[in-house]
Amino acid sequence: MSGGIYLDNAATTWPKPECVYQAVDRFAREVGGNPGRSGHRRSLEAGRELLRCREALARLLEVRDPARIVFTRNATEALNLALNGLITPGTHVLISSLEHNSVWRPVHRLCRERGASYDLIPCGRDGRLNLVEAAALIRPETKLLAVTHASNVLGTLLPIAELASIAHENGSLIMVDAAQTVGRYPLLPEEDHLDLLAFSGHKELFGPTGTGALYIREGIELPPLIIGGTGSDSLSPEQPDFLPDRFESGTANVWGIAGLRAGVEFVLSTGISAIREHEEELYVKLIEGLSSIGGIVVYGPESWGERVGIISFNLEGFPSGEVASYLDEAHGICVRAGLHCSPLAHRTAGTLDTGTVRVGLSFMNSEADIEALLSALRDLTKSA
Ligand SMILES: Cc1ncc(COP(=O)(O)O)c(C=O)c1O
Repeated sequence: MSGGIYLDNAATTWPKPECVYQAVDRFAREVGGNPGRSGHRRSLEAGRELLRCREALARLLEVRDPARIVFTRNATEALNLALNGLITPGTHVLISSLEHNSVWRPVHRLCRERGASYDLIPCGRDGRLNLVEAAALIRPETKLLAVTHASNVLGTLLPIAELASIAHENGSLIMVDAAQTVGRYPLLPEEDHLDLLAFSGHKELFGPTGTGALYIREGIELPPLIIGGTGSDSLSPEQPDFLPDRFESGTANVWGIAGLRAGVEFVLSTGISAIREHEEELYVKLIEGLSSIGGIVVYGPESWGERVGIISFNLEGFPSGEVASYLDEAHGICVRAGLHCSPLAHRTAGTLDTGTVRVGLSFMNSEADIEALLSALRDLTKSA
């Protein structure tokens, strides 16, 4: 499949930087081996590959102990791992009214099954969260605030450091879903006193699909989701209690993690501020262009300082799915329409019935991609 323009980076980024393809290829062809299982060179090198990736992530997030970052298949698995351990009978959880189904569904189910409860922290139509309302909803039995760092529908950033203070004043924990911000926005879990941070490796960190991770602050005890072989403490029938082995049973996705390491190093060498600046340029161009086309409604906050490069819009008279199909079929432009696995965010934005067309930007996009999208949308409106 060749050609076309990819603007569905909020689902997964593509293309990846060249170094990511090279790293996967190198591992697959030249290394092989199962990390931590055998004493031979290929197993040892595979183990070093995992370590290098963990260390690169720790550098990016300024986490002191890389072992506190455990690999998962994606952000969803990381979120489930944490929620499964933290939602216990009688507890209360707060989530925002922007959450992705990877938070809402496990919270909903675990609360129902375990006799716990949850409430939504309301956000405005543009996704802005009101901290006063958040503080008013917290109760003595609130054990956890689980909030997204940026909405995957509106792009709105939530005030996670302030939410962390509200949580900790109450003796609660905070978990942040950073699926849409890690790699593109400054994120320092230890400085911001976040207890848990779940993220995808395959979005703005440019890793392959099948990669994600969970940062777990020291002192937080969680049961593992999966138990089995870790290559460590093999005589014992008990799962190791040390990190990362406690949470990493079974053969790791080393091909993917080799690519993720290269992606993280690409982000580190490019710099988050350069990445954010580039995305801002694309955002400004897109917003100016969209506002010059009649009948387009853009959702989410206008000011760049309050958002990341995820832009939802609708075109009057055209269902969102039709716009996305037209862009793909007539112009080879990939965007995503519908509810984006986040009915909560669409209810908040008032777009539950229509969905939206979502453009997910990445550092790999160019101004020419935005021009092509705008020109295709102009053609569509003219054809009406
Ligand atoms: C805000 C948010 N959280 C969680 C997820 C789930 O991420 P993953 O696909 O890595 O499980 C997504 C995916 O789009 C997301 O946007």
